[in-house]
Amino acid sequence: MNEEQRKHQTENVKSDASSTKTEKDYSKYFQSVYIPPSLKDAKKRGKEKIAYHNDFGIEERFRGLGEGRKFYIRTYGCQMNEHDTEVMAGIFMALGYTATNSTEDADVILLNTCAIRENAENKVFGELGHLKSLKRERPDLLIGVCGCMSQEESVVNKILKTHQHVDMIFGTHNIHRLPNILHDAYMSKAMVVEVWSKEGDIIENLPRVRRGEIKGWVNIMYGCDKFCTYCIVPYTRGKERSRRPEEIIHEVRQLAAQGYKEITLLGQNVNAYGKDFDDVTYGLGDLMDELRKIDIPRIRFTTSHPRDFDDHLIEVLAKGGNLVEHIHLPVQFGSTDILKIMARKYSREHFLELVGKIKKAMPNVALTTDIIVGFPNETEEQFEETLSLVREVGFEAAYTFIYSPREGTPAAKMTDNVPMEVKKDRLQRLNALIGEYAKEAMKRYEGQIVEVLIEGESKNNPDILAGYTRRSKLVNVKAPKEVIGKIVKVKITDARSFSLNGEFIEEGVIGSEFLEGVEVE
Ligand code: 5AD
Ligand code: SF4
Repeated sequence: MNEEQRKHQTENVKSDASSTKTEKDYSKYFQSVYIPPSLKDAKKRGKEKIAYHNDFGIEERFRGLGEGRKFYIRTYGCQMNEHDTEVMAGIFMALGYTATNSTEDADVILLNTCAIRENAENKVFGELGHLKSLKRERPDLLIGVCGCMSQEESVVNKILKTHQHVDMIFGTHNIHRLPNILHDAYMSKAMVVEVWSKEGDIIENLPRVRRGEIKGWVNIMYGCDKFCTYCIVPYTRGKERSRRPEEIIHEVRQLAAQGYKEITLLGQNVNAYGKDFDDVTYGLGDLMDELRKIDIPRIRFTTSHPRDFDDHLIEVLAKGGNLVEHIHLPVQFGSTDILKIMARKYSREHFLELVGKIKKAMPNVALTTDIIVGFPNETEEQFEETLSLVREVGFEAAYTFIYSPREGTPAAKMTDNVPMEVKKDRLQRLNALIGEYAKEAMKRYEGQIVEVLIEGESKNNPDILAGYTRRSKLVNVKAPKEVIGKIVKVKITDARSFSLNGEFIEEGVIGSEFLEGVEVE
């Protein structure tokens, strides 16, 4: 914790001894914590240096807090949240808790939430409603809300007002404080709210329990400074801070040694990696150039911002090897006018030029994207520019969203003259177009021999195994169960809209998407 946060915390801590359950025993160190979020503070970007810590440990007084208790975490939203859940699970285990898959027999339930769109938030409030009866049956159950929604003042106020059965709310910068928060929640009748609006330093040695043994996530940076006008992320995740390359390289090496086959490097805006270092000039291209030398079959990264995607990175990615030929490159919109209002800081032309460079250097690249429709006052012509951009690039898949106003962001203040029916209709038209390109991309696989990392049994049929190619195409194949967790060669027999069916050939890495390579324009 830096000085400012310490000050902020002590200023905000309300000593509320009257609400202790066991006042006599614990009054010595009990304080009911109330540190609510502030979007205004979250917006500030200070110049102070990021400090790196390696001193996380479970304090003596918290040891055994979880003995005989079970935890359950439900995760909403992006991979960053999934990975935060792995860290929180690691902290729970270090405290002596065991994991459970059911809310029914959990002693602590955490909802790790997402704030990106209103429907994500509604799901969480729905779940909180369901949990009310569980809490009534078992008053000792602890219910916590963490993740991006906790960083919003309006959410915290709503929970305080209408979801009194919640025991704790903590923010994305307070994850390492989980032992203290749990302890306070056990000791307090009042809701424990601890949300720092200003990001903390980077703590390198947090424990984590990874969800799988085949694919692993590795954070390379935290936060976002882009402040696209529609987006809440810069407020919920704080300023951009990069992990030091040696820490990342060490973590990837360790995962490789443990037998992991695929790493996804995570950051809200990975292309800004290293921009906050003031002692070295080092960017994502440099990092990827180091990582490609590690003996692990596949490395991906997400999410990219077109503005910071530089030539050096393209040059390094073109070297291939374990750097896969799939780039998720969110464009958001096809018209320069709207991109300007979105504060994306690039034009349609710049995006197309970037795509041209990438395709030239990586002829087999699969490009996927994120697109928003129904931005305030979007005209039919501007929407059609999105459609034409999709055609020009030929994205192989896209996540598409109807714009959702986020309180506290500049776009939420804009008046909007586009009716919801029009937005829905545009979304459908966009999805239909993307579907055509996706189908075409899948069709090109028929008859090809591809490399598939087998992850497990297919969802619908345990006799069939499923996995992904380097370009992130889902493949279903009949193969011996021993190949789960391995890379195999598969001959594609038939392309579906969202998956490929194939015949198992043998174990083995190809090192590129196709055995002989096909030209993808
Ligand atoms: N409304 C709709 N979609 C949004 N996204 C981010 N903010 C909003 C919003 N307010 C989308 C963007 C981003 C993806 C993760 O979510 O497309 O890339
Ligand atoms: Fe949000 Fe823009 Fe940052 Fe992505 S780059 S997280 S869309 S502000």
